[in-house]
Amino acid sequence: MDKFIIEGGRKLEGEVTVSGSKNAALPIISSCLLAEGKSLLHNIPDVKDVQTMIKILNSMGVKTSFRKNTLEIDPSGINRFTAPYEFVSTMRGSVCLLGPLVSKYGKAVFSMPGGCVIGSRPIDLHIKGLRKLGADINQQDGNIVSSSGRLEGSTVFLGGNFGSSVLATANIMMAATLAKGETCIESAACEPEIVDLARMLKKMGAKIYGEGSHFIRIEGVRKLKGVEYGIIPDRIEACTYVLAAFLTRGNVGIRGVVPEHVFSFLDVLGDAGISMDIKNDTVWTRSAPGWKAVDITTLPFPGFPTDLQAQTMTFLAMADGVSVITEKVFPERFIHVGELNRLGASISLDGARAIIKGVDRLSGARVMASDLRASAALVLAGLVAEGRTEVSRIYHLDRGYERFEGKLRNLGAVIERVNEK
Ligand code: UD1
Repeated sequence: MDKFIIEGGRKLEGEVTVSGSKNAALPIISSCLLAEGKSLLHNIPDVKDVQTMIKILNSMGVKTSFRKNTLEIDPSGINRFTAPYEFVSTMRGSVCLLGPLVSKYGKAVFSMPGGCVIGSRPIDLHIKGLRKLGADINQQDGNIVSSSGRLEGSTVFLGGNFGSSVLATANIMMAATLAKGETCIESAACEPEIVDLARMLKKMGAKIYGEGSHFIRIEGVRKLKGVEYGIIPDRIEACTYVLAAFLTRGNVGIRGVVPEHVFSFLDVLGDAGISMDIKNDTVWTRSAPGWKAVDITTLPFPGFPTDLQAQTMTFLAMADGVSVITEKVFPERFIHVGELNRLGASISLDGARAIIKGVDRLSGARVMASDLRASAALVLAGLVAEGRTEVSRIYHLDRGYERFEGKLRNLGAVIERVNEK
């Protein structure tokens, strides 16, 4: 297992380019199973979750080749329709294989994803949606087993207790492309990653209308073709670098930002009194002496993303005043709070709310990463903390950030990856 050792207090300077979006890549990779031929995907981030997805595809007999962020997928040799537990348990996002498998091949055996450290993560909406399209789905020996003939279009409501589900929307949209007749998804997720998936599917020949709104209509077609497609930049990675720059009082150019994907985040920074320049796809940060406390509520897009909650908490831990973060998407997603407090932050929890009293300084310590975005939050804290911070279990971080320490080092950070005995 690897850990990071960070010497804090270095101002970040220079430019960094954002990689392709992990959360767009996973469903778009799955969508290639719907095609008759090969697909070629560009701007695919070389991160652990993508590598795991490729392993699952290979275990099914799907041929792949991944070089320099370009992934070729040839589904023609697929001969197994099972996503094994050892992979699904490390990557819940693999659930987005379910829709294409059920729709195109009429069968899927999928290990139940189970819980994870950010809370229980049910897949009832995925199952409900696929059943609505006619799939016969049962639970056996910890697996979801599905069989069906050609699916039939229907109206599917995907709102849950915590809002729309991103990957359930992806699954039902993918499944509906090959179903007979028309499918309407009500309370669909509006995330940019869903819009990107719809664009890919449309290029493949799917008929989809209304993506990016809460109502998506799909007219089923008989066949889809393999295509060449480039995916959007990673909005979460982009904002993580913006926060790293402000925390270290640096002047950094972050290239590959789509402003309309990150409006809620930019709005929060504006409320904190931070200013920056945005030109084309680049955000230029300007060294700020300090920033104000802000209250945030995480919500589905276009609200403030839960995937930036932990990193923004590090930023607010050093704000002037008291901030409150209310987590409405994953109410238990607060494991990083204890670790940030070890570094000198002053954060208390009240149910799904974190109350953050800004402090003047953080000081280095040994901390442990618990999930992907929490890991990034701890690295950000390490960059600004006085002295040495050790962040262990960074395999979580490797799931979603491409060459994180390399990109930070290019900006002047002192960060090293070492193998933990
Ligand atoms: C995706 C993202 C993840 C992000 C999350 C919310 C990927 C690979 N992952 O995950 O990074 O944090 O969106 O923006 O894209 N829920 C149910 N029943 C279901 C499905 C979800 O109750 O069947 C609940 C979840 O527990 C959660 C909320 O709905 O409280 C939103 O989850 P969802 O949008 O489904 O997250 P994912 O798509 O799994």
